[in-house]
Amino acid sequence: MDQKRVLLIIGGGIAAYKAPELVRQLKAQGLATRCLLTAAAEQFVSPLSLASVSGDKVYENLFDLTDEAEMGHIQLSRDADMILVAPATADLIAKMAQGLANDLASTALLATDKPVMIAPAMNVRMWEHAATQRNLAQLAEDGIGIIGPDEGDMACGEFGLGRMSEPAEIAQAAKAMLAQTPARDTPLTAAKPLAGRKILVTAGPTYEPIDPVRYIANRSSGKQGYALAEALAALGANVHLVSGPTALNDPKNVTTKRVETARQMLDACTACLPVDAAIMAAAVADWRPAEAQEAKIKKTKSGLDDLKLVENPDILATLSGHASQRPQLVVGFAAETNDIENYAREKLARKKCDWIVANDVSQNSGIAGGVMGGDDNQVHILSTTQTLQWETMSKTAVAAKLAAHIADYFAATKEHE
Ligand code: CTP
Repeated sequence: MDQKRVLLIIGGGIAAYKAPELVRQLKAQGLATRCLLTAAAEQFVSPLSLASVSGDKVYENLFDLTDEAEMGHIQLSRDADMILVAPATADLIAKMAQGLANDLASTALLATDKPVMIAPAMNVRMWEHAATQRNLAQLAEDGIGIIGPDEGDMACGEFGLGRMSEPAEIAQAAKAMLAQTPARDTPLTAAKPLAGRKILVTAGPTYEPIDPVRYIANRSSGKQGYALAEALAALGANVHLVSGPTALNDPKNVTTKRVETARQMLDACTACLPVDAAIMAAAVADWRPAEAQEAKIKKTKSGLDDLKLVENPDILATLSGHASQRPQLVVGFAAETNDIENYAREKLARKKCDWIVANDVSQNSGIAGGVMGGDDNQVHILSTTQTLQWETMSKTAVAAKLAAHIADYFAATKEHE
């Protein structure tokens, strides 16, 4: 009776052929599945095979009056504990982002009040297209879980990001999302598992003035931290973003404070305490000029030869070691160019934080445009007990996955309270 139910919406892409295997994997996770096919999906997978693996009727067409009489589209989405869209095509993602409802799949998605997760699959160019990324950011903001896509060879002959995640991985992610949902018939807060949590995020570079016109800085764009702040807010957290100078707009539903220097960033962070979690994604300048000159330094003088640098305060280490208001979860980022895991593990111990999100910022990271300033990222998540290595994905997708990981952490600690 307690078995949780997944409504699996299968979009019309080549990856739809993996749907029967996905149903099997969901079953292996103890979940019951009911399948709903879009018209295009029927070209790739047979309703009959899905009916036999799921042991249930397969729903196909909005205008099938018998189905509407038996079970309307509203009931279909209400009857499930979550909706999983796999493969989520660019078209379905666009419809979801716009709230369109012109077939059974999109109508069920619009009518649902349950958690929704998508497993995108499409050609790499379609994935990278600004419209798709914009739509995904919207879905992440709406609290929709996003898993994948993975990198690899594609049916179209190209290579890159766009392959649907493996069915076993999707099934596990669905199970994890359901673990956060309240028992049936309780009011819906499932999509907002971080409601009531205050989370501090830092992002961007810091500018350390040399004189009124010059400063020391770095190449951080702030994109990863901003995406994370938005993804955490989408899961219901009360997010305070302390940002160094960036070209980005303030993220939605987030309280943003703009600062310039590392010392201002530290002050803004400590002023925010107490918080449940602190996620330090900023690329803080390690050093600053000992004295910022009040007048512009002239080239004709001694120049910058005697520019003295002093070390900046370490914000992450300060919060991790806070005597009275240490956040329950402190997460650092590590930008490394080589020997990533070893350096990240060393950083975890040295800064006494709980997790390190490590990424390869070297020019040969294999990520188009590089991690710093670029749109993609590939991260390792290290804690004292485990190391996770995630595939290369957009910074928005990393943010959504990291936000879900943080929500899982708080859900797990709550169980032990
Ligand atoms: N950090 C911080 N304050 C600083 C320097 C870094 O809060 N003054 C935080 C960053 O926000 C990040 C983490 O520490 O979460 C690691 O930053 P990184 O620059 O990689 O580490 P460093 O301690 O500077 O080590 P190194 O440059 O030697 O790799």
